[in-house]
Amino acid sequence: SSETKYDYIVVGGGTSGLVVANRLSEQENINVLVIEAGGSVYNNENVTDTLGYGKAFGTDIDWAYETIKQEYGGGISQTLRAGKALGGTSTINGMVYLRAQTAQIDAWETVGNEGWNWKNLFPYFRKGEQFQTPEKYSFLDGSGVAYDPAYHGFTGPLKVGWSSTQLNDGLAQELNTTYQNFEVPVPYNKDPNGGDMVGYSLYPKTVDSELNIREDAARAYYYPYQNRTNLHVWLRTHANKITWKDGEDAVADGVEVTLSNGTTTVVKATREVILAAGALKSPILLELSGVGNPDILAKYDIDTKINLPTVGENLQDQMNNGLQYDSKASYSKSADYVAYPSASQLFPNATAVGAQLLRKLPAYAAKVAAANGNITKASDIQRFFKIQWDLIFKAGIPVAEILLEPTGNTYDTEYWGSVPFSRGNVHLASADPTVAATIDPKYFMLDFDLHAQVQAARFIRELFQTKPFADMAGDETSPGLSVVAAGADDQGWSNFIKQNYRSNFHPISTAAMMPKEVGGVVDTSLKVYGTSNVRVVDASVLPFQVCGHLQSTIYAVAERAADIIKGKV
Ligand code: FDA
Repeated sequence: SSETKYDYIVVGGGTSGLVVANRLSEQENINVLVIEAGGSVYNNENVTDTLGYGKAFGTDIDWAYETIKQEYGGGISQTLRAGKALGGTSTINGMVYLRAQTAQIDAWETVGNEGWNWKNLFPYFRKGEQFQTPEKYSFLDGSGVAYDPAYHGFTGPLKVGWSSTQLNDGLAQELNTTYQNFEVPVPYNKDPNGGDMVGYSLYPKTVDSELNIREDAARAYYYPYQNRTNLHVWLRTHANKITWKDGEDAVADGVEVTLSNGTTTVVKATREVILAAGALKSPILLELSGVGNPDILAKYDIDTKINLPTVGENLQDQMNNGLQYDSKASYSKSADYVAYPSASQLFPNATAVGAQLLRKLPAYAAKVAAANGNITKASDIQRFFKIQWDLIFKAGIPVAEILLEPTGNTYDTEYWGSVPFSRGNVHLASADPTVAATIDPKYFMLDFDLHAQVQAARFIRELFQTKPFADMAGDETSPGLSVVAAGADDQGWSNFIKQNYRSNFHPISTAAMMPKEVGGVVDTSLKVYGTSNVRVVDASVLPFQVCGHLQSTIYAVAERAADIIKGKV
């Protein structure tokens, strides 16, 4: 009840929130409350089915956030999926478990976050993981999956591996031969989870190999621990805002919530409030609590508690497109075969592409700054862009992700440039916490982002024209050569890409961990600048996009955050 006090209140029982709540509640004398807007999905088949990707979309466990119409992205709006359930987005995601490239995490330190580098994060990837080695499962014989034990953890809560729905018909090997036959070969990568992702590989997923069901944050970090008397979860409870102690200083003392019966009340926190509501919600909760850009807050008659104008800025997402082909075989199982080309493998003229992009960075930075009224400064953005450029053209991170997914009589492909330069934002549109926010990722604002997307599409066409795989596939059914001609230039691809993309569902950086003077919202202990006891621990804090999918990095960041809060780091 509202009389009870908790040491920590975690807002959002999702991917990050449940990690933090679990680790904090390892301390027996510490009471932890998790506030989660959704309910339990333990027995929801749209969640557990390992071939059920997409089944939960549009159901009541999907927030289905809508963007505003995208000025540079075809004039259309996009739906950003996000899980509304205990376990958060890990209950509806694609289950891919794939970390970042070493240099990308090191870039977090380069931008000014001391201690946040690959070397320090790597132990937390392993701490969380319970890797299920494939040789134990005969259904994986012939599937081509592989791993290096040095990269994995075996005793953590989160099950990672492959399930019995994994294809094992030899396609993996045919594809490897095909990639080696490319004009610029894409090398085989036995295990992309050790910080070197470039190449062709088969990544593991968050699945229970034994039971063939999805593994999510609730199954890993909550249900096995639900009997802890100091770990409390309020489901179907909506957090509205942080409440503050009287006085000038920003000391949080609780959270205003609306309970499932419609009652609004305040629940008290004696130590900290930890926001883990996701990259599209945590910044909104900050704004509703008076932390943000005073001009925006004033529009909705919200008093400014902390003037921190970059709350909600720096939004980074990726754009996802697909090409489809007929397949000669028919598939009842599936698998994701991934290629991660570096710039020199993706662009036929990488040096020239890099030089041209480098010249454009000042103009790009100016455009981003102008678009948000110079809330983020062009000089800072330009520095971030140069770090990103160095990652692509010097460190050789993957510049695109290319997925092949056999389904039925089709080869589906998905592709995206992995590190778009465009930056958008998310802000509240009302003081009423139930009103949808204004989300503007500014997809395709900067032309390199389109160029990377086009080049990834060309790469897929090369895949389907290269033997031996070329002999296994039929015609390109979407877009097809009548819509986008063979050899089409960027302009020729532009219409198809901009009318048919979707969000890649990897929004980050809306409460970025960076020094305050360059626009950060949280410091290296993930504490919100100007507060003494409010942290953000979720996708919002990642300063740069990662090339792997987000969840493994988010789990690791949350593991490290828990140690920071406990004073162990
Ligand atoms: P997350 O969304 O997990 O948690 C936020 C929680 O807060 C939710 O439970 C939500 O209900 C709750 N909440 C929000 N507002 C609240 C409020 N006001 N009051 C109370 N509770 C509130 N990544 C990957 O690694 N591999 C993949 O295959 C995919 N595929 C994929 C597919 C799809 C469709 C999506 C949408 C995303 C992915 N991702 C992914 C991305 C990845 O799943 C995602 O980035 C993380 O799960 C996000 O974790 P967070 O902790 O940031 O938020």
